[in-house]
Amino acid sequence: MSDKTLSRSPNLSRRALLKAGLATGVAAGAAGAARAAGDPAITEIQDWNRYLGDGVQARPYGTPSEFEAHVVRRDVSWLTASTESSVNFTPLHELDGIITPNGLCFERHHGGIADVDPAEHRLMINGLVDTPLVFTMEDLKRFPRENRIYFLECAANSGMEWRGSQLNGCQYTHGMVHCVMYTGVPLKLLLEEAGVKTSAKWVMPEGADASAMTRSIPLDKALEDCLVAFKMNGEALRPEQGYPLRLVVPGWEGNMWVKWLRRLEVGDQPWHQREETSKYTDLLENGKARRFTWVMDPKSVITSPSPQAPVSHGKGPLVISGLAWSGNGRITRVDVSIDGGRNWKTARLDGLSLPKALHRFYLDIDWDGSPLLLQSRAMDENGFYQPTKNELRAARGENSIYHNNGIQTWHVKADGTVENVEVS
Ligand code: MTE
Ligand code: CO
Repeated sequence: MSDKTLSRSPNLSRRALLKAGLATGVAAGAAGAARAAGDPAITEIQDWNRYLGDGVQARPYGTPSEFEAHVVRRDVSWLTASTESSVNFTPLHELDGIITPNGLCFERHHGGIADVDPAEHRLMINGLVDTPLVFTMEDLKRFPRENRIYFLECAANSGMEWRGSQLNGCQYTHGMVHCVMYTGVPLKLLLEEAGVKTSAKWVMPEGADASAMTRSIPLDKALEDCLVAFKMNGEALRPEQGYPLRLVVPGWEGNMWVKWLRRLEVGDQPWHQREETSKYTDLLENGKARRFTWVMDPKSVITSPSPQAPVSHGKGPLVISGLAWSGNGRITRVDVSIDGGRNWKTARLDGLSLPKALHRFYLDIDWDGSPLLLQSRAMDENGFYQPTKNELRAARGENSIYHNNGIQTWHVKADGTVENVEVS
């Protein structure tokens, strides 16, 4: 432990004592008044006020405060046999607004993180084109580029919850989603440069990683809004997210957003690759499987309170906060229920409302301290809404993993702790 940490600890313990006082039931307003009367945290000069801090360049690439060390991606060790073909989860319960910080974007790799030297990286376009082309990263940066904010959700997000409540925290139940601003070249421009033949109907992106991820994408979608991106939130893509190049397929399942993108093949038929036949298809009750279920339908989750973000302040003003998104476009409305879906109130959408991006919602309530069954239900601009889990199971059966956009329930208990439950 550094001297600095030691010298800070008395202040911390005072704050901890104060918190304990609150937990015994002092209402928020009364506590505020008590503090004004002589809270040492305000009446005493703190170390950070007394001594000079670190100078510039102490942190050439900034990292969060040491007090935020718990805000990290997490995995579930028993979920997969190896970490190279696995997933970890965005800590949604700790975040606000709609942008996911780069270092907290969940990771899903099928063959580990490729360590690609951008100087050696190439993007090839071949197949049904007039001129097969190979681009360097420098070539790509000479095309007109665009900045757009999109969510990426893995089709398997909430997959563990299909048959009933499983994992205790929205990080685990809903954390295979992130939302960043991408900078990239519209795929349309690159395809136009190669000259797409009139018989072309499909595009197959391929990754340069050990899994060589491949998927079939309809040409219409490729021309509509896909990006070949090299930046996220203003800086180079992180290695975990496909550095130096990834495909952005707005509103569609994350598996199609090929990372470490090295090739685009143009064809007249889908390729029926592994990831669109044995995986990423939805087995129905009658034994048939839905295929090519690309769009991520409207979905939402309350991020706080939630199992990892219990209510620590007792009854009184309570901010209910959550995220909603739809692969069909903008979210137009989110309703919140505090009684397990019997009554609904329309939540307040706050901040940017962009198509195929996360939306932030709030419902500010006065909590009477009695148990709650919290739910949220999203609607998008096309009139699609989020189903209950029972509605979803009635339509798709019990075999599915992918595309679970059912309504989530959190049970907030009188002591403020929160649990993942299902109401029927
Ligand atoms: N691209 C390659 N090359 N290799 C992969 O393993 N995983 C896919 C997709 N693109 C994958 C890939 C899956 S299933 C998802 S959900 C997203 O990338 C995850 O993107 P992220 O790791 O940036 O969150
Ligand atoms: Co995925």
